[in-house]
Amino acid sequence: MPRHQFGIFAEGTRAHHHLEFHLRPGAGAAALSSALVAVRLANADHRTNGGTNLVIGFGPALWEVFPDALAGPPVSAFPGYRNDAAGHHAPATQEDIWVWIHGPQPDLVIDVVRAVTAALAPVATLALDQPGFVYHDSRDLTGFIDGTANPFLDDAPDEAVVPDDQPGAGGCYAMSMRFVHDLDAFGALEVDDQELVFGRTKDHSVELPAGTKPADSHIGLAEVADDAGDELVVYRRSVPWGTAAQQGLHFVSFGADVDRFDLQLRHLYGLVDPALVDRLLSFTTAVTGSFWLCPSVECLEAVAPLPADEDDD
Ligand code: HEM
Repeated sequence: MPRHQFGIFAEGTRAHHHLEFHLRPGAGAAALSSALVAVRLANADHRTNGGTNLVIGFGPALWEVFPDALAGPPVSAFPGYRNDAAGHHAPATQEDIWVWIHGPQPDLVIDVVRAVTAALAPVATLALDQPGFVYHDSRDLTGFIDGTANPFLDDAPDEAVVPDDQPGAGGCYAMSMRFVHDLDAFGALEVDDQELVFGRTKDHSVELPAGTKPADSHIGLAEVADDAGDELVVYRRSVPWGTAAQQGLHFVSFGADVDRFDLQLRHLYGLVDPALVDRLLSFTTAVTGSFWLCPSVECLEAVAPLPADEDDD
């Protein structure tokens, strides 16, 4: 039974760092394989350094480099979403390799970040370099708790990991999007109006009752179902980021396919029902977007085998 990358579901870490890389032209399988071995080894001491987690995601270009080792069809590229009438756009900035490092403290995380970046330098350039953090009790910088509707950890792998009988088994599909907030505009709303934007209360994240929750609220549009009416669950691990000048959210979610991310985004951006556009988008702007497959440990081993004396996870 292929195993998922355990760091996807390791909760409780407060320091995060997201790296995205663009393959250098001509980067071949042997060089990329050696670089990925070094990436995996960068976190080999995770048990003794205080517990950092490292998750690797592959964009579509990796299937061209490793056509045999990567089972199943390539992950699709993030297509981008545009609603000109509403003035909202989620640009497609699909990259090739995503590495997500998270741990208890930034001092531990930065050591791994530097080692990963050095390991990939011969084959890829750094396209995104985004530290993030858990804000108070897992709140977005708007002050709303983020992650309330996530499946509990007992259930999350069942929801987000590709099942054993499917290509890519043990892998998790993922989506990452960097958002830049307009916190002044959001903060200018009364709290009860802010609650209408999300569809939940601000203090305790209680869902607003059906008669009160607007159809264009964030959770009203983000919760989607399949044709049979079953909810298409995702497992979200977004983190806020910020400097004095700019703040936002690095959105990350995992699921058993990318179609559910696509459907959610079409709902949020008003591409399903033009009359309904996620009101949250008036206060935040997407600036990146990529789809990924975070392959199983066995698949990583096939692409980038660790030396025999190292644990494979
Ligand atoms: C800056 C952007 C975003 C912010 C600040 C944000 C914040 C939040 C907050 C505060 C909640 C309510 C609490 C919770 O259940 O977690 C929520 C729910 C949710 N969000 Fe987002 N979110 C953002 C973008 C997205 C995107 C891009 C998607 C998917 C494409 C998404 C999918 C969801 C889902 C599925 C829920 C749970 C809905 C439910 O079943 O109740 N969010 N988000």
